[in-house]
Amino acid sequence: MSHSLVIRRGRIFDPSQKIDVVGDILILNGKIEGVGRITLPPGPTITELDAKGWLVTPGWIDIHTHLREPGQTHKETIRTGTEAAAAGGFTSIACMANTTPVNDSSFITTYINQKVASEGLINVYPVGAITKGLEGQELAEIGSMWEAGIVAISDDGKTVMNSYLMRKALDYSKRFDLVVVCHAEDVHLKGRGVMNEGFNSARFGLRGIPKASEEIIVARDILLTELTGARLHVAHVSTAGSVALVREAKRRGIRVTAEVTPHHLTLTDEVVGTYDTNTKVAPPLREIQDIEAVTEALADGTIDALASDHAPHSVSDKEVEYDNAEFGMVGLETAFPLYYRLALQKGVSLDRIISAMTQKPAEIIGIPKGTLKVGADADITIFDPEMKYTINKTEFRSKSRNTPFDGWEVQGKVRYTIVAGKVVYQEAHGGMR
Ligand code: DOR
Ligand code: ZN
Repeated sequence: MSHSLVIRRGRIFDPSQKIDVVGDILILNGKIEGVGRITLPPGPTITELDAKGWLVTPGWIDIHTHLREPGQTHKETIRTGTEAAAAGGFTSIACMANTTPVNDSSFITTYINQKVASEGLINVYPVGAITKGLEGQELAEIGSMWEAGIVAISDDGKTVMNSYLMRKALDYSKRFDLVVVCHAEDVHLKGRGVMNEGFNSARFGLRGIPKASEEIIVARDILLTELTGARLHVAHVSTAGSVALVREAKRRGIRVTAEVTPHHLTLTDEVVGTYDTNTKVAPPLREIQDIEAVTEALADGTIDALASDHAPHSVSDKEVEYDNAEFGMVGLETAFPLYYRLALQKGVSLDRIISAMTQKPAEIIGIPKGTLKVGADADITIFDPEMKYTINKTEFRSKSRNTPFDGWEVQGKVRYTIVAGKVVYQEAHGGMR
């Protein structure tokens, strides 16, 4: 029998069904057949996997990754990016449109889908561009990309500065119930800034990016969402001001959701003082009060989802002066322990964290995932909540190593990543059973 498995004695934790119970899961032909105490049906032998002491959750979903294929395959490919995702515990990811060429037509969407079918290890959902070539001038082929299977539209990496065009995109997105993901950085206000503007940018002698550059666009896009009645998702929220705007918009019933990255939850702009270009990211690392605000917003649900913004860059893009380095850091293989830290150290509930990695992202992009309900695809992540280890970037599956988290001591290790009943990643170091 293909892709059948029994997971035994794990702590089954599924926020979509409010389940937190020790038990078994039976997978038959890639689907979840039963949850609870499983007695095997007669027939061919089914592989058993012992998950005692580990957590068994719906497969994790990352709605913000950059796979770099087509066009920048020296940084990442669909193969290496999905291997990195599987190692990080992710069973589904959404990949951003800023490839070369840009995913602004059904032709590119179909190309990505075909590559994923032949080389991908996990589920990959393409995000289409809002504007052609991400140039902010003309709408992309949104309707035909939707037919080809995109799950959202975004010019991520760039902001649609033309408010008229953004309004049109929001209006048009309603026809397909596509969520519009905004990258909020006012390009003029950002200027040639490379880090957060404030005390530290003055200290380090680097050009600053004010928080207002983000908040102006978050506020504008919320207003345009109210105007059009569309659905907005705010990518990588980094400031306390943006949190307040999202909170207020939700209170007023505007259809807005938001995400936060591992780095905006853990690092302040203090670390830029090393001039390590792996700390250069858009939006930039902010200040302690911003970290507190995004953490609180995640805990209370104002921020719905966790997302890595995995942004691979090559050594030649990063081993240059801070001013000239590319923005972005890899995230798929370090995301989980950094999220889990919030449960261990900041009192964020495990329910919120797992929900923000499973049920919520599935809802935002509208995919039938993020649950262990009977009949669902057997996408499952199993992690060891106790295992401590040191992040070692030389072990990454990703083609790129641009992380500021190398050498961090963390806790919480993915043991198995299972997609449609098939084990696509198995932890090798922590001892086998
Ligand atoms: O730091 C970033 N890098 N932020 C983005 O929004 C884009 C990303 C990239 O594509 O490198
Ligand atoms: Zn991004």
